[in-house]
Amino acid sequence: MDWISWDHTLKTGHAKMDADHKALAELFNLLPHALEQGKGKDFCVKVLDDVIRHATTHFDLERQLMAQHRYPKTAQHTAEHAMLIEQALHYKATFDVDASGSRIALARFPEVWLGFHILFSDKELANFLARVD
Ligand SMILES: [Fe+2]
Ligand SMILES: [Fe+2]
Repeated sequence: MDWISWDHTLKTGHAKMDADHKALAELFNLLPHALEQGKGKDFCVKVLDDVIRHATTHFDLERQLMAQHRYPKTAQHTAEHAMLIEQALHYKATFDVDASGSRIALARFPEVWLGFHILFSDKELANFLARVD
């Protein structure tokens, strides 16, 4: 089972952003597979660490693009990134492979994390960048 299915609806049209998002979605998808295979907490936490590290690098790229092109919604977008990282760190800290609540919560967060942010905020940013480039 994949949590995030990568398809055209998530495409922003910005090549580098899309490549990063796709890589992040693939990383996220390692978690349900790990849970299915009964991998332990250490493995899952390592996957979460990877997700957080890649997301941080990706958010830095978007921050540079926003600064370079004086994106008017930089503050709002940056605040969303900070909230997403905070949320991921909280999930990691409370993650327990044996707790169903933890599994349910984890199963839902990539949707918000990747789906919601990409569908609205990143697409808006990519549209702006396409106009100013
Ligand atoms: Fe993004
Ligand atoms: Fe973003």
